[in-house]
Amino acid sequence: MKGTWSMEKPAFYITTPIYYPSADLHIGHAYCTTIADTIARYKRARGYDVQFITGSDEHGQKIQRKAEENGVQPIDYTNKIVTDFKELWKLLGVSYTSFVRSTSPEHQKTVQTLLQKVYDQGDIYKKDYEGLYCVPCESFWTQHQVDEAGGVCPDCGRPVENMKESSYFFRTSKYADRLLAYIEENPDFIQPASRRNEMINFIKQGLDDLCISRTSFDWGIPVPWDPKHVVYVWFDALLCYFTGIGFGQDMDKFNKFWPANLHLVGKEIVRFHTIIWPCMLMAMGFPLPKMVYGHGWLVVDGEKMSKSKGNVVDPVQPIKEFGPDAVRYFLLREINLGSDGNYSRKALIKRINADLANDLGNLQYRTVSMIEKYHKGIVHKTVVDNATDATFRALTETTVTDYEKAMDAYDLNGSIRAIWNFIGAANKYIDETTPWLLAKDEAKKDELSDVMTYNLADAVRTIAILISSMMPFTAPKIYTQLGLAVPEQFDLAEAVWGNLPDGTKVQKGQPIFPRIQEEETEK
Ligand code: ME8
Ligand code: MG
Repeated sequence: MKGTWSMEKPAFYITTPIYYPSADLHIGHAYCTTIADTIARYKRARGYDVQFITGSDEHGQKIQRKAEENGVQPIDYTNKIVTDFKELWKLLGVSYTSFVRSTSPEHQKTVQTLLQKVYDQGDIYKKDYEGLYCVPCESFWTQHQVDEAGGVCPDCGRPVENMKESSYFFRTSKYADRLLAYIEENPDFIQPASRRNEMINFIKQGLDDLCISRTSFDWGIPVPWDPKHVVYVWFDALLCYFTGIGFGQDMDKFNKFWPANLHLVGKEIVRFHTIIWPCMLMAMGFPLPKMVYGHGWLVVDGEKMSKSKGNVVDPVQPIKEFGPDAVRYFLLREINLGSDGNYSRKALIKRINADLANDLGNLQYRTVSMIEKYHKGIVHKTVVDNATDATFRALTETTVTDYEKAMDAYDLNGSIRAIWNFIGAANKYIDETTPWLLAKDEAKKDELSDVMTYNLADAVRTIAILISSMMPFTAPKIYTQLGLAVPEQFDLAEAVWGNLPDGTKVQKGQPIFPRIQEEETEK
């Protein structure tokens, strides 16, 4: 797209999981959503037409029980939590294009239409079922699987329940060979590679047909031809990825955005997204998503967050205390996408002070201050043929290239390293060019100081564009301090050296990331 004008923007479709409306919303949920939002914003800055959906997975036995425990109707229970979700996403700057509630009438229509189609073509049959079920995971297990895990749910380690009902089954087994071939022919489909190997092994053990209806409770979408049954919650939830881009409502939009480019999910639900979901899609006659990326978990002091352990980190608290961009930056920087990562307040403060206050904040502040002090706040665009400056200018280009390469590979950590190398080089450039001495030397003052401050201010401008995807609240602040109008959409095509106009008047403001005094926050 770069440098050309386009007829129609290319499509890009990314999803987060459709979260269970759980009262203990924690920083792990914010993690996945932050990654997805950063990728969505990056694609927009590259000129894509982006659909980015998230939502709430409201049906099923787990939610019905939680509502009962709270003495309310399930829909009243989920209404309240969905409001909290939306508030959190707003605080965090999550730019979703659609929030899908599985309880919406549009979604009920999606599920019933497609389920009926699969039933009509003979891929669904009824049988008596006896087996084991994990309510927290909403997942079926065989006796053998549970025995192997030591008598508990193989995914979460919690107790399973006996389940005996007459249910409808989906012929997953019929699609197993096609699925395996697809996974083998499309190495990008399941990422990272470790997850891919796990899934291949799982499928090779043989797929059982999937139970897709329940009769022992009624909080769900009725099976259209037999409404005493409600649809299994995963069969329901996965189809939110269709409803979110207009399935059944706006088929032009649906056809433009399906198949999804990226389903971003936690590692424990990769199985649902790379086995059940593809089998459903094959049966329904749709192409499979291009990639399912299974990210790791955010742990606290090495332990998985849980209510019972009392170590659940509320995301709202650090966002309110340190700002959304500091939290976003921490989540993206501290953790490698495929691995688990540790959250701690101490590590968060350390990152804020070192990377944000010291590296980024200082560069921006020093640059604007120098332009005020030495040039009455006016940027002078001056270009000289001098080796240091040429090297520095070339850095803009390599930084942008490295950044884009990393982002295209969903290597968010790598993209941050590319930007911070540039920030480091810019800070070093100030220290080596010693502007305070330049300013005293009448002969050198104008030219060298002009060149230097221009290079720096233009670098800060480029850095603002590059960080705008991960830190959407900070990039506009930097633009404003540089004296630039904040664009509605940051454009990566403008991240080239020399785009800062001559004569721009900077507007020095407060430091964008003040240092956190460790002592002060101990209280
Ligand atoms: O599984 N660190 O919903 P969910 C990182 N409704 N990610 C975490 C995490 C942590 N500590 N804890 C949870 C469901 N997550 C289904 C999805 S999609 C059609 C249906 C992530 O609310 C977890 O890995 O239990 C998962 O990707 C997401 O939160 C939603 O989990
Ligand atoms: Mg879960």
